Amino acid sequence: MAATARTPLISGNWKMNHNHFEAIQTVQKLAYLLHADDYEVVDVSVHPPFTDIRSVQTVLEADETPIRIGAQHCYFEEKGAFTGEVSPAMLAKLNVELVIVGHSERREIFGETDELVNQKVKAVFKHAMTPILCCGETLAEREAGGAEEKVSGQVRAGLAGLSAEQVASMVIAYEPIWAIGTGKTATADDAQAMCKVVRDTVAEVAGEEAATSVRIQYGGSVKGSNAAELMAQPDIDGALVGGASLVAEDFAAIVQYRSHG
Ligand code: 13P
Repeated sequence: MAATARTPLISGNWKMNHNHFEAIQTVQKLAYLLHADDYEVVDVSVHPPFTDIRSVQTVLEADETPIRIGAQHCYFEEKGAFTGEVSPAMLAKLNVELVIVGHSERREIFGETDELVNQKVKAVFKHAMTPILCCGETLAEREAGGAEEKVSGQVRAGLAGLSAEQVASMVIAYEPIWAIGTGKTATADDAQAMCKVVRDTVAEVAGEEAATSVRIQYGGSVKGSNAAELMAQPDIDGALVGGASLVAEDFAAIVQYRSHG
């Protein structure tokens, strides 16, 4: 399958880190470290906690920095009695472009089901934002030989009811749970094999065209030192970065993987 027109997307998922002052400092430093020629070849997004998004938006827009604003999750309803939740409409109003949906931490710690994840994916589209649908297996599932089945099942469920055009425009992040925050990166070959499973699953449910266009990120202990090898894989179109996205220099080294490989 030709891996031609897919611009890589490198996304920083800050998780529950950085207050809004730290967030401002981090994006200002990142904006200083990244240059026009980086943005020509790579799309970059940051996904701060909700309490930081307005501050980050203000800094990025004032300086016309082409870093995209992302969120880490949202609810699927527009508004109402859902204490503690944030709606996609609220995120869209802050010029959020990308929303992570179904991260393994949301699934495992907060009990998000495939059905809920699918509702959220649809809600994100409804507000003209792009979902980053996450999937990935546990170590036990991998050791039992069930990684492919788990991941293709999550992808099928997450994409249920979407049009081929929607699927083509979205992002899917393959994040093996055993590689998240552990320092253990999947080998480039293993990451490629699983990202191919994701693309093949997309082809089955939404057709070849959507599969050729959808961007697939790898996530799990991505760093400046391993980004180039991962990004060289034909089915890996970007990275979803946790720990290394918290420090501007480390994240910039990943964005600039071409020169840091
Ligand atoms: P780490 O990069 O810290 O392993 O986290 C990956 C991740 O979960 C990104 O969403």
